[in-house]
Amino acid sequence: MLTILLTAVSTNAKTLVVYYSYTNNIHQVVSALTSQIDADVIRIEPAEKGLNYAANNYAIGSAQISAIRKNPNDASSYPTIDPVEVNLADYDCIIIGAPLWWSNMAAPLQTFLFRNGAAMAGKHIGLIVSSASSGISGVESDARRLIPNGDFFPSSLWIRSSQTANSATLIRQWLKEIDYETTGNIEGVKTDKRLTTNAIYSISGSLIGSRMSSTDKLNKGIYIINGTKTYKSN
Ligand SMILES: Cc1cc2nc3c(=O)[nH]c(=O)nc-3n(C[C@H](O)[C@H](O)[C@H](O)COP(=O)(O)O)c2cc1C
Repeated sequence: MLTILLTAVSTNAKTLVVYYSYTNNIHQVVSALTSQIDADVIRIEPAEKGLNYAANNYAIGSAQISAIRKNPNDASSYPTIDPVEVNLADYDCIIIGAPLWWSNMAAPLQTFLFRNGAAMAGKHIGLIVSSASSGISGVESDARRLIPNGDFFPSSLWIRSSQTANSATLIRQWLKEIDYETTGNIEGVKTDKRLTTNAIYSISGSLIGSRMSSTDKLNKGIYIINGTKTYKSN
């Protein structure tokens, strides 16, 4: 019989997910993401409601992107958005969920980053982009322009609209590829908080569960494990 003290998840690093979504593809992607990682989430909303960005061959989105391309350093080039309450100092990692518009980052999300990108200096930055078919290099350039001193993960995740329903698998692969958990020293990927135990107790001795399986989730804390085997998956 083995009795050990286990500290489940020792870091306090925090992740924020910021996204905009017009037709809810990125919204679905973000739901899949936050079922795999612990994160606070902010959805950006344009101040002007009810706009049909798809009408007339996407004319409104096209005009907004053209205005930004023409004068990227002028605040008035960016569409207004609803106020966002966030203290970026609370976060070590920021994952951006961006739809692609005319090869660029969707305009309302650019507004948020134009205002807040400087406060993201030195933070780990992840980028997830959804497009129908266009490649995402223009969106990556926008992110780097708007967050000039971000510490970007080495690869972005591109999810085509047609892959939206399968995004959980693509996200899992990407988190592994960028070594999200260890690179960022960030709170554990949810599926990685694994233990095989016969019994697990709180520090005060109450039984929390027996035969904890790989799908059980532990909150941060110190536990007493009574079991034959413990492991943490990679
Ligand atoms: C204004 C606008 C422009 C778009 N331009 C492109 C484009 O140039 N290439 C492309 O592949 N998809 C383009 N799309 C499609 C979106 O990138 C795609 O549908 C994405 O999944 C939308 O994400 P969302 O549902 O989160 O808004 C555009 C969509 C809009 C609304």
